[in-house]
Amino acid sequence: MDFGQCQGIVAGAILPAIPLIVRYREQENVAFKLDPPSKPDLYRLFDNTGWAHLIEPQRFDPPADPRDHVPVRRYATSDEQYDSVDQLLEFLTRHISIERETLIALEWALHEIMDNVLSHAKSSVGGFVQATHYDHALEFIVADAGIGIPQSLNMRDHAAALERAVSEGGTRDARSNQGNGLYGTLQLALVSGGQFEIHSANGMLYLDGNSGAQRSREVRSPLNGTSVRCRIDIREPNLLQAALRFRGRRHDPQHDYTERTFGTDGGEMVYAIRERAIRDLGSRTGGARVRRQIENLLSDQDHVVIDFQDVDVVSSSFADEVFGRLFVDLGPRSFMSRIVLHNVNATIDGLIDRAIVQRTRTGNDPKA
Ligand SMILES: Nc1ncnc2c1ncn2[C@@H]1O[C@H](COP(=O)(O)OP(=O)(O)OP(=O)(O)O)[C@@H](O)[C@H]1O
Ligand SMILES: [Mg+2]
Repeated sequence: MDFGQCQGIVAGAILPAIPLIVRYREQENVAFKLDPPSKPDLYRLFDNTGWAHLIEPQRFDPPADPRDHVPVRRYATSDEQYDSVDQLLEFLTRHISIERETLIALEWALHEIMDNVLSHAKSSVGGFVQATHYDHALEFIVADAGIGIPQSLNMRDHAAALERAVSEGGTRDARSNQGNGLYGTLQLALVSGGQFEIHSANGMLYLDGNSGAQRSREVRSPLNGTSVRCRIDIREPNLLQAALRFRGRRHDPQHDYTERTFGTDGGEMVYAIRERAIRDLGSRTGGARVRRQIENLLSDQDHVVIDFQDVDVVSSSFADEVFGRLFVDLGPRSFMSRIVLHNVNATIDGLIDRAIVQRTRTGNDPKA
């Protein structure tokens, strides 16, 4: 696979091919060789996303440090599906500002689309998922090497099969399934002004909530399997309520990453530094990721507990990036009431105090 001259590529273009490549390699002994892009940033992309490793594992290692990029995840069981979703959501909440309800909507959609692979696709290599974030949007792609939507719905017209699959209640089995997974996910994309795209067997379907474009047709190069790409614009307020309605009624998803990860019996959100941020304590970029997560928690909480249990020390740059900046952003009174520190030893206490004093002098210039 020669990407030597490649000047640009998006996950939506490459992910649908990954399950097929893996299937050919693992089950039919076909060897793939990758010529990675010679452009350095694209080379890094192939490396960080794990594409290079998935195409030619003998020559390319799995991504070393997935903290800055979220690599493609492979899953074949529902436990693996849940782990993958948690990792994706953790990654996203550490990099973008996102409201809790929007995160719940995203979590719902990820589970629906990923579960379809395990429930319907009969994909011998399982499913592959990747998520990417942009300034105001996030996008996920789920791909498999299974039987495809037309065959699952037993329809000859492949474009019509995709239209049926995304319609409300367009299910294969109305006795056990609601047929809302694809429909609801499409609504999240459309209502927010995002994008939605499916390729399956000979069919393709594309809708753009921003331009209003809609295409569905039979394609000449068929895909053995299915890929679904969903882009959600995260600026849309009340997305969950506006988009997730079935038969006219609002749907309340059962999963909530925020509650599951930070919630406590007492109703408070607790951010445990030892558990969530131990590898971030040494650096400014680590601090920025932790601050982003705390800010996301604050978006619907009046206060957040930050627990330093079993943490002996943090770097000054971490203390500044998290507490110095939060202090200046929130202002002293709000900081005091909304950021509740627990189990802080004298060393960390001093480091946080010093960071706040210095940051108050320089202000919150992102570069300073
Ligand atoms: N990855 C896939 N591979 C093969 N067929 C699929 C795939 N995803 C969806 N389908 C087909 O599209 C139909 C609609 O999917 P959708 O998720 O909307 O509803 P459902 O899975 O049937 O019901 P629900 O998700 O509400 O339990 C499915 O019944 C199945 O026939
Ligand atoms: Mg489904």
